[in-house]
Amino acid sequence: MDQEKNCVSRREFLSAAAVAATVMAAGPMFKVSAKSEMKMAMPDIYVCGVCGHVEFGAAPENCPICHAPKEKFTEKNTLFADAMKKFPEVSPSHDPVISIKKESGLVPEIACKEVSVRVGKHMHPMEEAHHIKFIDFYIDDKFVTRFFPNLKQYPAVSYYTNAVGSKVRMVEFCTVHDYWQAEMAMA
Ligand SMILES: [Fe+2]
Repeated sequence: MDQEKNCVSRREFLSAAAVAATVMAAGPMFKVSAKSEMKMAMPDIYVCGVCGHVEFGAAPENCPICHAPKEKFTEKNTLFADAMKKFPEVSPSHDPVISIKKESGLVPEIACKEVSVRVGKHMHPMEEAHHIKFIDFYIDDKFVTRFFPNLKQYPAVSYYTNAVGSKVRMVEFCTVHDYWQAEMAMA
């Protein structure tokens, strides 16, 4: 349960950014800008113009999903903030909810973590006109793998990993409400 408290939703992230901006306005002794405060919490965001895959920190030489070249990626650091601003009321059904177990219930004989995610706190619908197209899994902001739920599945999945890292990030794409993300410490 403590790990769930570490999960940083976009709402919490934006609140932290707002607090940073307020502190800056209060006095000149803080040399960091609001933008740099936000970058500490969220690296630069690059989106593939062909398939919509999201990379953090830098554009890859080739998209790991559709193999489009680096030139097809565009920096879009407001990607998640834009969705939140455009559709604030749908946050409870779009913020990924992450949980991490240090031992797996499915494969207890292997030392691995069980990383699970669902979209969202209120389960997102899976209908032709409105569904979750993919859920992407990142460790330390490096892309690991993608889950494509179909209309007969719920947007919820578990991964079993022995990877060592400090945090997990999940990104999901809704066909109506765009991109949403959440992160959680792995320790
Ligand atoms: Fe949606």
